[in-house]
Amino acid sequence: MEILIVGDVFSKLGRETFEKNLKRIKEKRNINFVIVNGENTTHGRGLNLGHYKWYMENKVNVITLGNHSYQNKSILTYINEVNNVVRPLNFPDNAPGKGYVTINYNGKKITVFQLIGTIFMNGELMKVGEISSPFVKAEELLNSVESDIYICDFHAEATSEKIAFGHYFTGKIDVIFGTHTHVQTSDARIINNETAYITDVGMTGALDGVIGVKKDIIIDRLVNKKNQVFSPEDKGLSQFSAIIVEIDDKTNQVKKIETIFIVE
Ligand SMILES: [Fe+2]
Ligand SMILES: [Fe+2]
Repeated sequence: MEILIVGDVFSKLGRETFEKNLKRIKEKRNINFVIVNGENTTHGRGLNLGHYKWYMENKVNVITLGNHSYQNKSILTYINEVNNVVRPLNFPDNAPGKGYVTINYNGKKITVFQLIGTIFMNGELMKVGEISSPFVKAEELLNSVESDIYICDFHAEATSEKIAFGHYFTGKIDVIFGTHTHVQTSDARIINNETAYITDVGMTGALDGVIGVKKDIIIDRLVNKKNQVFSPEDKGLSQFSAIIVEIDDKTNQVKKIETIFIVE
């Protein structure tokens, strides 16, 4: 089976870019399962109900979130009701939503979970409450949830934290992909022939912003210490960032990981 995993879809340009490329890929490939990081889907901050429904129309199987999980309050109206939206598992236990989902796909159990990093993560996170160790939480999940395939979105800033996690869980988690930096890394590989790994899938949205935001706003912040109102870049060149992981139908072993990065 082939699993398409798309990096952080950011605002309007990200949504358009996602829809167009999903169609193109599906015309050429036999994609069985689609996972998208959707934490920036709605105006760069969060995922409202309308955009959740739009993902469903596009036949997305699982949506992961991140530090922006609850920024659009609309999510609180549906996150506990749906069974395919995942927020970080190492958020406090009483945080809205689920840290993992197990989906039955053609007789196979596919468990998708998300963890959030602990290094260089910003204040947004602190509002959620105490963040547990991603390593401990992943171990707990592997010991308590039966599954044929485990897929982890490690949403983190520090490359070192993600790489260490990848090594530690080689052979235990089948696919480990990083998100959050919005920049695709060129280190996709299968570690020890067991675990498909990439430090960051990258983002889907504007190429000429600063990780999705209008560049002038961020430059003004950094150069002049100003604090202009946040605004996504929705014009100009776009980037589509994704990976496709191939899994052997008989053995459930990962066979291949390839990166996709399209600018147009
Ligand atoms: Fe993001
Ligand atoms: Fe993030």
